[in-house]
Amino acid sequence: MPYVIAVAGKGGVGKSTLSALLVRTLSERTGEVILAVDADPNANLGDKLGVKVERTIGQLREDLLNRADEIPAGVSKQDAVMYQLRLAMAEGETFDLVTMGRQEGRGCYCYINNLLRTFLDSVMGDYRYVVIDNEAGMEHLSRRTCQRMDMLMVVSDPTAVGLTTARRILELAREMEVEFSHSMLVISRVRGEVPDGLRHDIEDAGFESWTVLPHDDEVDRLAEEGRPLTELSRDSPAAAAVRQLVTRMR
Ligand SMILES: Nc1ncnc2c1ncn2[C@@H]1O[C@H](COP(=O)(O)OP(=O)(O)OP(=O)(O)O)[C@@H](O)[C@H]1O
Ligand SMILES: [Mg+2]
Repeated sequence: MPYVIAVAGKGGVGKSTLSALLVRTLSERTGEVILAVDADPNANLGDKLGVKVERTIGQLREDLLNRADEIPAGVSKQDAVMYQLRLAMAEGETFDLVTMGRQEGRGCYCYINNLLRTFLDSVMGDYRYVVIDNEAGMEHLSRRTCQRMDMLMVVSDPTAVGLTTARRILELAREMEVEFSHSMLVISRVRGEVPDGLRHDIEDAGFESWTVLPHDDEVDRLAEEGRPLTELSRDSPAAAAVRQLVTRMR
């Protein structure tokens, strides 16, 4: 079974940045290919990882619905879907990326969605680590891209309002009976020290552990220039923090 990390949090806090850095750090540490899943309909993990996404699962789903009768005789629909899904994965040297994309039309996708889950479940078995970058907010938790996760990482900015959202996400995950073994709060884009006034809220938010991802000018600069985080210097503050974070993961 792979170790599944799901990254959640409100909009713009740094979920995709953390996800991309996790993928990079985990592959460096293990020498293994990591499975990255971009579960945000407004996908950009591919950009951050420096690969071009040719096809999203959403587009594939649409094609399958419209062209179901074109599956060659002798091939089961399930096999055809699985084959297409494999083709829809973007492969980097140190990771494979599945981009969910949006659900495009209004057709009935239940059958295909079920196949998709089967696919993700089966494909995940081939990896030691899976990193899922989720969309902002918490509604998606109920949709369950994935059935279980080992680590729920909730990213928050260093503000009281941000922490309230982070806390709510954790509560919602519990209410929804999302299966997770560990939880970590990641306070992102911290300049200097975490303000004393926030420490109490952080400790009180209900997470098993918490850590800081410092503000990093180089991360910002790469984003501005549209360059991937694979180019981030190894000794940059954010890269170092994620290395540290990974050693604390259980
Ligand atoms: N540690 C950091 N230091 C500096 N800039 C950062 C850091 N983390 C994220 N950013 C910047 O903040 C912006 C938002 O980051 P990111 O896209 O990772 O957030 P997100 O939570 O995935 O957003 P969304 O909710 O839109 O998916 C980006 O421009 C990114 O470069
Ligand atoms: Mg994002």
